[in-house]
Amino acid sequence: MKILITGGAGFIGGNFVHYMTKEHPEYEILVLDKLTYAGNLETLAPVMDRIKFVKGDIADREAVFGLFKAENPDIVVNFAAESHVDRSIEDPGIFLRTNIIGTQTLMDACREFGIKRYHQVSTDEVYGDLPLDRPDMFFTEETPLHTSSPYSASKASADLLVQAYYRTYNLPVTISRCSNNYGPYHFPEKLIPLMIANALNDKPLPVYGKGENIRDWLYVEDHCKAIDLIIHKGREGEVYNIGGHNEMRNIDIVKLICKELNKPESLITYVTDRKGHDLRYAIDPQKIHSELGWLPETKFEDGIKKTIKWYLNNRSWWEPIITGEYIDYYEKMYGNR
Ligand code: NAD
Ligand code: DAU
Repeated sequence: MKILITGGAGFIGGNFVHYMTKEHPEYEILVLDKLTYAGNLETLAPVMDRIKFVKGDIADREAVFGLFKAENPDIVVNFAAESHVDRSIEDPGIFLRTNIIGTQTLMDACREFGIKRYHQVSTDEVYGDLPLDRPDMFFTEETPLHTSSPYSASKASADLLVQAYYRTYNLPVTISRCSNNYGPYHFPEKLIPLMIANALNDKPLPVYGKGENIRDWLYVEDHCKAIDLIIHKGREGEVYNIGGHNEMRNIDIVKLICKELNKPESLITYVTDRKGHDLRYAIDPQKIHSELGWLPETKFEDGIKKTIKWYLNNRSWWEPIITGEYIDYYEKMYGNR
């Protein structure tokens, strides 16, 4: 079995490559990644002798078709994306190109060369948000798509295309929509790694608005397990929500990080809210549980400790990232906030 993992030098894709090398040692693993600011070959260094890495853009038709012709993969799992909501608010264009045109290009290649399964890694953000005062409400696979940011709109557009390719061309597809992930190799522009890195450097911890927005956090390895199950046992044409009923307010996460690192809460700084900020995400994972037997295994209390320990022990991974271009990004996003 040959599996093509796009975006495999990013956070979740990288963790998935590690996971698949362990769980399926007999598989040939091919990674296609453009190595944008979010891609890092250091993430793949521990498994580089087990995989084949190709640098390339999923929206580059010639490159993608050339790769499929040469490699003929059996399964494609598409993690490649522009993934940061704040960047999409600043500059939506690249989100449309990578997340929509890139998905179309990959699926066209799948049609041309044949494939056993195309899996689209999507997000719970396609459902929009839930009110803070309705803890009884959850996203199910039937919740209408209702997006808030250019990022989520681009991901929802891609999902619609995937479903269109299933209906029109019978392409054997599946889609997963997961809640917020955390864990090792997470780029320090996102809440948890940004707060860990800043706290370790005694820098202000910028909380948007009042910090009351809620996210449903899942340890990244649990997401990887779910995708492994879906690509092997999931039903073609189906959507599976992935999440572990672990809702937390942003401010509580930041306070927990301060506590774990023995840093004062006085580092917390409330800054101007994100435009169009989604209030609450919460996944109902009943379908993947009943159909595929998936349940999250890592409790948040353990996962966050493991994650913080990883950042403490792997400064050589993240310290070089928060230099150069990242400093300009940080100044632009947080300088006058
Ligand atoms: P990430 O930003 O850490 O990594 C994205 C990877 O894709 C990088 O390695 C980057 O170099 C690569 N890439 C970007 N544009 C590319 C292109 N045009 N061609 C080839 N490679 C390209 O993202 P992530 O957090 O690991 O997210 C991975 C996927 O999971 C995304 O599709 C995202 O929408 C989805 N997702 C993320 C979360 C989360 O909490 N992070 C939750 C649910 C779903
Ligand atoms: O739900 C899945 C989504 O989770 C994925 O599709 C996205 O790719 C991923 O980036 C993530 O989106 P969020 O916008 O929820 O994640 P982020 O880490 O950017 O922000 C989490 C919450 O923390 C959100 O309410 C905004 C807030 N926040 C974020 C940053 C970076 C802050 O308060 N301060 C910050 O500096």
